[in-house]
Amino acid sequence: MTNPPQPPHAQIMQMIHGTDIYAGYVATMPEDSSGWNSRHPSFDEAIATVRPGVVIDVGVWKGGSTLYLAELLRRNGVPGTVIAVDTFLGSLEHWDRNSGLFDMIPRRHGLPLLYDQFMSNIVRRGVTRSVVPLPQTSTNAALLLRGLGIVAGLVHIDASHEYDDVMKDSRLYWDILAPGGYLIGDDYHPYWPEVIRAAGDFAREKGVALVAHDPKWIVRKP
Ligand SMILES: C[S@@+](CC[C@H](N)C(=O)[O-])C[C@H]1O[C@@H](n2cnc3c(N)ncnc32)[C@H](O)[C@@H]1O
Repeated sequence: MTNPPQPPHAQIMQMIHGTDIYAGYVATMPEDSSGWNSRHPSFDEAIATVRPGVVIDVGVWKGGSTLYLAELLRRNGVPGTVIAVDTFLGSLEHWDRNSGLFDMIPRRHGLPLLYDQFMSNIVRRGVTRSVVPLPQTSTNAALLLRGLGIVAGLVHIDASHEYDDVMKDSRLYWDILAPGGYLIGDDYHPYWPEVIRAAGDFAREKGVALVAHDPKWIVRKP
């Protein structure tokens, strides 16, 4: 299996931000890393198997999955980086006033404060040297990372749950996944029928086997 050497954390930070974004940052919010399916055994298997230099977490919310992925890198002695991609604005469902999810986002004058919550969690947990936040749309982030020559050993897709978005995210991040790498998607569950449909179509399109490990869907790049 190929796992091409990737730049270290400090270099990825410079490539993306041109500066150390943690310098002078003060954690303003108490830890709240609540989320969904953030600590899943499929992550343990992927990281132990691939020992990825770069993990891309697409859709990070308050950082639950990112924190677990960083913890697994450390536990496995892998000096890798988790690139954490999110608009930090919430998904469609978090803006539905009737969904019960709306109030999970702290807001100031209508603007979600997810980035502050995420950054506070990363700083409080002491994993700043293995996480690089990338506050962008999943599409822009994929194109940016591709242009920078970043190749991931593991991609976790957990952003939009709409069919077209899941297909697009899967295709874009597949392009920057190393051979042998894992693409793990969240919410392979009847509550999200469009995710199930997109995951199946994507696996068929690429001619790879889809493994369902409730509630994740998993494919590996040949
Ligand atoms: C279900 S949450 C992620 C949960 C997280 N993985 C965890 O462990 O708790 C989905 C996240 O995807 C982000 N998101 C939705 N659409 C996006 C897009 N097109 N680009 C980037 N982020 C997006 C939202 O802002 C939200 O934080």
